[in-house]
Amino acid sequence: MLPAARGFVIEDLRRLEADALAEVRAARDPRELEEIRVRYLGRRDGLVSRCLRRLGGLSPEERPAAGAEANRVKGALDRALEERRAALSRDGASSEDEPDLTLPARTAWQGTIHPVTRAVDDIWSIFRSLGFTRARGPEVDTEWYNFVALNTPLDHPAADEQDTLYLAPGLLLRSHTSPVQIRTMEQYPPPIRIVAPGMVYRRDTYDATHTPAFAQIEGLVVDEGVTFVDFKATLAEFARRFWGPGTRVRFRPSFFPFTEPSAEVDVKRIIVREDGREEETDWIEIMGAGMVDPAVLDNVGYDSEQYTGWAFGMGPARVALLRHGVRDLRLFYENDMRFLGQFR
Ligand code: PHE
Repeated sequence: MLPAARGFVIEDLRRLEADALAEVRAARDPRELEEIRVRYLGRRDGLVSRCLRRLGGLSPEERPAAGAEANRVKGALDRALEERRAALSRDGASSEDEPDLTLPARTAWQGTIHPVTRAVDDIWSIFRSLGFTRARGPEVDTEWYNFVALNTPLDHPAADEQDTLYLAPGLLLRSHTSPVQIRTMEQYPPPIRIVAPGMVYRRDTYDATHTPAFAQIEGLVVDEGVTFVDFKATLAEFARRFWGPGTRVRFRPSFFPFTEPSAEVDVKRIIVREDGREEETDWIEIMGAGMVDPAVLDNVGYDSEQYTGWAFGMGPARVALLRHGVRDLRLFYENDMRFLGQFR
């Protein structure tokens, strides 16, 4: 055998090695790796094994160097296969051994509480600390609970104002949470001290300050000797705890068939500007409220000579709007995660 034959075997081995390593690097799953292993290192037909068989044709002086090279190539291939196998099982399917640092980090997706839900939770927790319990009622209710028991005859303009969706004669989507007042008083004797959050529905246009479905929180207190002072003091305390000690509360005369006297409650917040100066906001209406009309107490069989009470209906979406300085209510309901994800 010519000396060139040895060089020939070694050259073949090196080319095989280069090809095999490139294939190993490109392999995308363990099955491909196994195919490569069999093709190169398979005992009978593997390309490296076949090369080894040609060692017999070399001279005794040439054989050791070629044999050593063959062993080196086998070892290198074994190691490359093993490393690639480990890398694939580690991260599924990257096509490079090196980590790709340009990939965005894998962060766990984290949901956030909807800002209106958070307002409801925070409002509720303040009233809980003031001794209120939480009540609930159905979103589909009867004319009796939604209007009549609340001293609102069906031909009264107040019933028109809260026009809603009827599902059957006398059965409708509630237009406010006030029916929970009636349902609670029917079920329990006084004293009553509840808040009742829930969705309500009106035939309102969808605009920056109205949505046809919206959240409300009803509040009701009934006991002996409850006066307008309790009413005003409790709501003022709530406002200061919710928006800060400098918050002012204003009661504007209003009308609701189920309260007398009635009021719209406005708040004026103090906000701290970026330059550190304090600034008062405009008055913003957050609820309708009033002293429970004796006719309502009579409707549920309470003695209106013995008991008095006050009630409110607050809009938590408005409250959230005011809290976060959002200008358009619709943003809360369009499920844009870029918007909703900011409220952590
Ligand atoms: N139910 C009234 C509304 O939705 C609000 C309200 C509740 C007013 C309780 C007075 C007392 O407009």
